[in-house]
Amino acid sequence: MIKQYTSKIIGLGKYVPDNRVTNDDLSEFMDTSHDWIVERTGIEERRFIPKDSPEGTATMGVRASEQAIERAGIHKDDIDLIVFATLSPDYYFPGSGVLVQDLMGIGTCPALDVRNQCSGFIYALSVADQYIRTGMYKNILVIGSEHHSGGLDLSTRGRTVSVIFGDGAGAAVVSRHDNLDEGIQSTHLHSEGKHAKELSLIGPNTKKWVHEVFENYDPDDMDYHPYMNGQLVFKNAVVRFSEVILEALAKNNLEPSDIDMLIPHQANLRIAQFVQKKFGLRDDQVYNNIMRYGNTTAASIPIALCEAWEEGRIKTGDHVMLAAFGSGFTWGSSLIKWV
Ligand SMILES: CC(C)(COP(=O)(O)OP(=O)(O)OC[C@H]1O[C@@H](n2cnc3c(N)ncnc32)[C@H](O)[C@@H]1OP(=O)(O)O)[C@@H](O)C(=O)NCCC(=O)NCCS
Repeated sequence: MIKQYTSKIIGLGKYVPDNRVTNDDLSEFMDTSHDWIVERTGIEERRFIPKDSPEGTATMGVRASEQAIERAGIHKDDIDLIVFATLSPDYYFPGSGVLVQDLMGIGTCPALDVRNQCSGFIYALSVADQYIRTGMYKNILVIGSEHHSGGLDLSTRGRTVSVIFGDGAGAAVVSRHDNLDEGIQSTHLHSEGKHAKELSLIGPNTKKWVHEVFENYDPDDMDYHPYMNGQLVFKNAVVRFSEVILEALAKNNLEPSDIDMLIPHQANLRIAQFVQKKFGLRDDQVYNNIMRYGNTTAASIPIALCEAWEEGRIKTGDHVMLAAFGSGFTWGSSLIKWV
C-alpha cells in the first residue's frame, strides 16, 4: 500500500525593516493625508528598506527563513526544496530562491520561484503540500518576500498605489506529517487572466527591454510604475475572498463558525472587514496587521501567520484559514488543522 502523508507547518519566521514610514511621512512627498489613507485602507504605517541599504528581497527572505528554521528545530541542510514567492525579485533572472539558497549556504537542493503576487504564498504553500503528499520531499522552506519601496512612484501621480504597499518577508518550514486529519487539509487556487493588466507593472519587459530604460527612459511612461484599478480590484476581491473561503469550508465539511483564525492576505483592512462581517466572525477569529505594515503582497500571509502564532492566538487543533486575492487576478485559500 502506498504510504499517505499530509504536511504541517513546523516553524514560522518574519522580518520587516526597522525603517517606519508613517502616513504623515508620505504626505511630505505627495498630496495625501493620514485620514484619507486610514479611512480607505486602514494603514497607519509601513516599513521601507532605506534607499542606501544593501537589504533586498532575498536578504529579507533569509532573515525570515533563519528564524523559521531555528523554530522548526531542524538544520538548514535538512531543507529538501525552497519555494520562493515574490513579485519584486532581486533580479529579472535568476529568481530569488537561488539567492536565498546561496546566502544561507544550503547545498544543492532545488529552488523554485512562484510569481503569483498577493496569492503567492498560498500558491507556494500548495506546491510544498503537493510535493510532501507524494512523498517526494520531507522539509520544504516556503518564503514570501517583497521589496516594494524601490519601485513605487512616491509622487502624487502614484499615490493611489504607493500608499498601500510596504516591504517585509515571512517564511514557513513545511514538513511531512503522518496523521492525515492534521496539518494542511486542502488548498484551493484560481486565476482569471482577463484582468492581468488591472493590477500590474508592465515594464521593463521582453518588448520594452532593459536598454530602453537606460537609453530612452521616460519618467512619465506609466508602464514603469505599478498600476492598480483600485475599484475593480476591491469589487473582485470581496467576491473572490468569500468564494474561495466557502470552497475550503465545503471541502472540509466545516461552517464559517468553525474557523478559529482567519488570516486574510493584508490587502486592505476594508476588504478584510467585509469578509469578517459576511461570515459573522468575531474580532478574535480574524488577524489583521495591515495597520502596521501595509500590504506586503506575498509576504503578508506568512508575516501575519507568524505574528498570530507568536501572540498565542493559534493553538493546537485550531482550524486556520488562509485566503488571498491579488494581481493576475489570482486568488486562493488553505485550510489548516493546526498541530
Ligand atoms: C485604492 C483605493 C483605496 C482607492 O479608494 P477609492 O475610494 O476607490 O478612491 P478613488 O480611486 O476613486 O479616488 C477617489 C479620490 O481620491 C483621490 N486619491 C487617490 N489616492 C489618494 C491618496 N493616496 N490620497 C489622497 N487622495 C487620493 C483620487 O485622486 C480621487 O480624487 P478625485 O475624486 O478628485 O478624482 C481603493 O480603490 C481600494 O482599496 N482598492 C483595493 C486596493 C487593494 O486592495 N489592493 C491590493 C489588492 S491585493
